[in-house]
Amino acid sequence: MTDFTIAPERAECADAIEALHEDAFGPGRFTRAAFRLREQGPHDAALSFVALSAAGELLGSVRMTPVVTGASGHHGYLLGPLAVAVAHKNRGFGRALVRRAVEETGATGTARFVLLVGDAPYYNPLGFVPVPKGRVLMPGPVDPTRLLVHPLGDKAVPGALAGMVMHESRSTTTPAPASP
Ligand SMILES: CC(C)(COP(=O)(O)OP(=O)(O)OC[C@H]1O[C@@H](n2cnc3c(N)ncnc32)[C@H](O)[C@@H]1OP(=O)(O)O)[C@@H](O)C(=O)NCCC(=O)NCCS
Repeated sequence: MTDFTIAPERAECADAIEALHEDAFGPGRFTRAAFRLREQGPHDAALSFVALSAAGELLGSVRMTPVVTGASGHHGYLLGPLAVAVAHKNRGFGRALVRRAVEETGATGTARFVLLVGDAPYYNPLGFVPVPKGRVLMPGPVDPTRLLVHPLGDKAVPGALAGMVMHESRSTTTPAPASP
């Protein structure tokens, strides 16, 4: 197993992460609903993580973007893109990145959920469950079976999830503690 560390994303990782996304998703990534949401505003670098080898090589990356749900105004995060370098797949880096990002997001105490668009068989064991069909809208078409949520705190689902998901910067509400 490659020796690796998970660390918060730093600005100097940006080019390597972009190259990783190009390799993993290709140009089609720009048309995805999750991308459309992410282009509404910046990701949160403090809750976005990279997996690095002992030599400092980028092995994988996960980003977290602050979002709100339209009707409720509840705050959460959109997880993604998650990508692992082709040469380093199936060594646990992807799961380690997701676990760390979810754990740190939960520790903020203000986010009620982590949402993502992805493959349920990969994310189910990491605590993600399907969003009830029709409950939330993304800014683009999404296969409803791929819209998954990880609750944070005890009030997260289903109450906090309703309506259009948008970048937090478009919201007029401020984050409130997720738990009493
Ligand atoms: C998906 C991805 C992030 C997984 O990262 P990884 O570090 O290779 O995966 P892990 O080592 O954490 O987990 C490997 C396990 O997940 C499984 N797995 C990988 N991708 C999967 C998928 N899309 N659906 C279901 N299972 C998947 C592997 O078969 C393996 O199963 P095993 O443990 O039973 O052998 C990586 O393959 C990748 O970058 N893919 C291209 C981009 C992408 O699809 N991102 C996710 C969008 S949903």
